[in-house]
Amino acid sequence: MIKELIKEHQTPFYCYDNTIINEKVSFLNSLNLEFKHNFYFAIKANPNLAIINLLKQKGLGAVVVSSGELYKALRSGIKPSEIMLNGSSKNDFDIKYAITQKIRSINIENIDELNLINDYSKEKGLVTDIGIRINPGIDPNTLSKISTGKSGDKFGIQIDQINFDDIQKLENTKLKTLSVHIGSQIVDYKKFIESYKSIINLADELNQKGFKIQYLDFGGGFPVLDQKSKGLDFDLWLLELNLILKNKQYDIIFEPGRFLVANSGFLVSRVNYIKQSGSKKIILLDSSMSEYIRSTLYGIEPIVELLHANNNEEKFEYDIAGGVCESSDFFIRDALLPKIIKNDFLVFKNVGAYGSSMSSTYNSRPRPLEILFNKNEHRVIRSRDTLEDLCKNEIM
Ligand SMILES: Cc1ncc(COP(=O)(O)O)c(C=O)c1O
Repeated sequence: MIKELIKEHQTPFYCYDNTIINEKVSFLNSLNLEFKHNFYFAIKANPNLAIINLLKQKGLGAVVVSSGELYKALRSGIKPSEIMLNGSSKNDFDIKYAITQKIRSINIENIDELNLINDYSKEKGLVTDIGIRINPGIDPNTLSKISTGKSGDKFGIQIDQINFDDIQKLENTKLKTLSVHIGSQIVDYKKFIESYKSIINLADELNQKGFKIQYLDFGGGFPVLDQKSKGLDFDLWLLELNLILKNKQYDIIFEPGRFLVANSGFLVSRVNYIKQSGSKKIILLDSSMSEYIRSTLYGIEPIVELLHANNNEEKFEYDIAGGVCESSDFFIRDALLPKIIKNDFLVFKNVGAYGSSMSSTYNSRPRPLEILFNKNEHRVIRSRDTLEDLCKNEIM
């Protein structure tokens, strides 16, 4: 299919395989979870309306982190009652918009959010369901830059910082959810379980005191294999999970992002130039850190393949760089690939999550085209920015 797309569309572009997304949803639905549960897609992983809508049609809700994501979730057809808002530093507008849309839960990450939620709900004659994202102080053993539940991290609130009696007194705010998300790409199932237990125990305690906690939001974080990682043992995870929730009546919400969409995505790029610099052979692509920033930001190298390559070919060492004026604009150093010539195409794999969603127009580069394909069919789900788009909203 990618070869067909290249004939029709100019690179660079992202393309997503619908079949792979379907398989991921089927996998999650096939897990033998012995308690009430729902999956909410973490939109930040890929906020394209077509992708959100596709997951909506498969029965998923959404977890959003801004008013923009909330708008996109609603626009994609997800019901407000199936949307939760998180966010470590929500703007007033994010909170007010979420209140008026009557979403399932606004999960606070700062005690100060309570005043605004309660006052604005009162002004609008509403009672707003909220959650608290707990920081359980757990190191998830993942990359430090994608860890979110350790002491010292900016996410969530430590339990000892919360005055639950004050929350109980609020008339226009009802605490119904506890939430935890300790990071991404977590392969140690025990870390997940430890984090889930922290909010199960707290919910049990609070409900004994008269609260009505109904929803436990266990976050996302399921890993996606790359060259080095060994994955999560879902069987062991499931066994423990069913045990800790035995005889509990909570509705559990999982918020996978990366797991649902990462493997479906490819970034297709053309080789503009090949340059010898000292001992290095550098491939310069028509994409860059503006289209895919994760290598530069986190030092995580995507899997790359040369299109039209034959597996038995002799391999050579290349550094693969982008076209932006930044020395750090490299996708991969010392990649082993068959001989590459100008106008060859490179395909980065498993970039369906946090790829396009983290792209920018830095160096005034148009954000790339996005295509969704299903077996032999495909459709454009985001057109490339035009040059005029790059000037939109600017006033001379
Ligand atoms: C609160 C919350 N839920 C879910 C996710 C999705 O995580 P992942 O893509 O690793 O599944 C994130 C990601 O940062 C998050 O902050």
